Amino acid sequence: MKTIAVFNHKGGVGKTTLTANIGYNMAADGNRVLLADCDPQGNLSSFFGRYDMRKKSIIDGLSGKKSEYRTAYKGLDIIPGNLDCEKIHPEAEAVAQMLSQYQEDYDICLIDCAPAYSDLTASALYAADSVLIPIRLDSFSIDGIDTAMMKIQSGKEVHIIVNAFNNSRAARLFLTKLLSYGYPLCESCVRFSTVVDAANYLHKPMARKARFHAITGDLRDLTKEVEGYAFK
Ligand SMILES: Nc1ncnc2c1ncn2[C@@H]1O[C@H](COP(=O)(O)OP(=O)(O)OP(=O)(O)O)[C@@H](O)[C@H]1O
Ligand SMILES: [Mg+2]
Repeated sequence: MKTIAVFNHKGGVGKTTLTANIGYNMAADGNRVLLADCDPQGNLSSFFGRYDMRKKSIIDGLSGKKSEYRTAYKGLDIIPGNLDCEKIHPEAEAVAQMLSQYQEDYDICLIDCAPAYSDLTASALYAADSVLIPIRLDSFSIDGIDTAMMKIQSGKEVHIIVNAFNNSRAARLFLTKLLSYGYPLCESCVRFSTVVDAANYLHKPMARKARFHAITGDLRDLTKEVEGYAFK
């Protein structure tokens, strides 16, 4: 099983949206996918109808109990997170230990991280073979890239994903700047569309909400690219 963390210290850049959609697309491609919600906000768990503070969560997983649940989609399971995750301070190796019991059961694990560098985030990053950093092309997001990259242990493969690209002059300038500085940008980027928020509101992957939409195509291309990195 390959493990990919989706992380950016900056909030609202699309970590959960991309984790949900890439996870769904990878499962639709026939992979056995495990999602791990390491964000106390639990947005990924809510998306897949698995936010429930009374049921087993990542906290149980970290103490050695199996705590994955099926989602409505074939090949896509989730270890939920919830608000209680805010109170925990796992060791650096804890997430890796939790995931080690799933090595033979899944092809890929995607970890959705919180927009904070907590002990749980640090442990998720430690467990990851590679890290995806979603960004938006605005000045504050760009300022955050170096901070995010500094938090990732050296030697980990990092790929930056431009999300919610709006083709404005400023966005194009930022993109040119990032390319000229040699940041490890994914070739595929995901354009901005209000349909993404509508799909999230309905808790539906874009491929289910709007199969023929341009953004669904962007997400499919991005998934193929990430699969290429993960299984090379
Ligand atoms: N490509 C896109 N086009 C338009 N809206 C988007 C796109 N990607 C994400 N969004 C919207 O941006 C908002 C933030 O997305 P999301 O919750 O996935 O970010 P996040 O990085 O996980 O946030 P947090 O840091 O709070 O965990 C949501 O309202 C989502 O619907
Ligand atoms: Mg999120």
